[in-house]
Amino acid sequence: MEQAIGTTVTKLIMDEQRKQPSATGDFSSLFMELIVSLKLISYHVNKAGLLNIIGRAGTTNIQDEEQQKLDVFANNTIISKMEYTGHLCGMASEENDAIIDIPPEYPEGKYVLMFDPLDGSSNIDVNVSIGTIFGIYRKVSASQGATLSDFLQPGSNMIAGGYVIYGSSTMLVLSTGHGVHGFTLDPNVGEFILSHPNIRIPERGSTYSVNEGNYCRWDEKTRKVVNYFKEDNEAEGRPYKSRYIGSLVSDFHRNLLYGGLFLYPTDVKNPSGKLRLLYEANPLAFIVEHAGGAATDGERRILDIVPEQLHQRVPLFIGSKEDVAKATSMLSA
Ligand code: AHG
Ligand code: MN
Ligand code: MN
Repeated sequence: MEQAIGTTVTKLIMDEQRKQPSATGDFSSLFMELIVSLKLISYHVNKAGLLNIIGRAGTTNIQDEEQQKLDVFANNTIISKMEYTGHLCGMASEENDAIIDIPPEYPEGKYVLMFDPLDGSSNIDVNVSIGTIFGIYRKVSASQGATLSDFLQPGSNMIAGGYVIYGSSTMLVLSTGHGVHGFTLDPNVGEFILSHPNIRIPERGSTYSVNEGNYCRWDEKTRKVVNYFKEDNEAEGRPYKSRYIGSLVSDFHRNLLYGGLFLYPTDVKNPSGKLRLLYEANPLAFIVEHAGGAATDGERRILDIVPEQLHQRVPLFIGSKEDVAKATSMLSA
């Protein structure tokens, strides 16, 4: 459905609901509460320096990563806002070791939320764009409450996914399976307003995004892929520009709008890759595919991978279809 510029995300969610005759409104209600969480996080990210919530929290998470105060704030905001909706049976967060159960005082629902509450945390204190990444699935287990099987679903089961980028403006990029739409937060109104309807990623880009500092740790095939995009071959439109922000959401967002390839390959220190399948790779793969792009782990389609662990890491090659295909073919040759 064509949405007019100026439409709110509320209208898009209600339109999606009306398309489903069997819809109960549960998903819409769940999603609107998630939106409130994202607005709260946006406010605190933008005020972080003034609210004394930048800097280290003095704790580490399951990934053995030092948590930033904003990591903890964003995580607690989403959990506390979502647990009482009555539409979730459980949640999984980058910041929590195990599944987050719904407290007994609240009813349980038929959906599952997986999220990275704050992506790009190392950039918080230097005012570089960061984000939140999320994916929503239907509960698949028959039991009361959530079980691991509700979370170890392939990304192709996702019913809605997206991210928020807290940058020069706060923008929500979302798909419920019918196109990809970008909403910019109007701080005066406090509403996400449709600013980028029907985002499509160019078939081929002219930018590659990778942490070249890992070059010495890559295998030969990975070096060949990166060197291919750096090669001086005017006739084939190379070398590509190099852009790397170090916040996955920011690097991905630029490539989604302009085209290009983001890659986080395996390396000696990250033999399974660094990025997490459930709440980084899958939601962005869901978005990029619905925008006409592609995402693989160097061999397999990201959305086909059946997770084996909650915090499973994967190599990630994501962006313009032709660029991902080229990188994947070189890696699996
Ligand atoms: P997070 O802040 O959620 O831990 O994610 C950080 C990730 C991702 O945002 C980014 O693409 C990547 O780490 C950067 O890793 P390097 O610093 O190793 O390049
Ligand atoms: Mn992250
Ligand atoms: Mn994070």
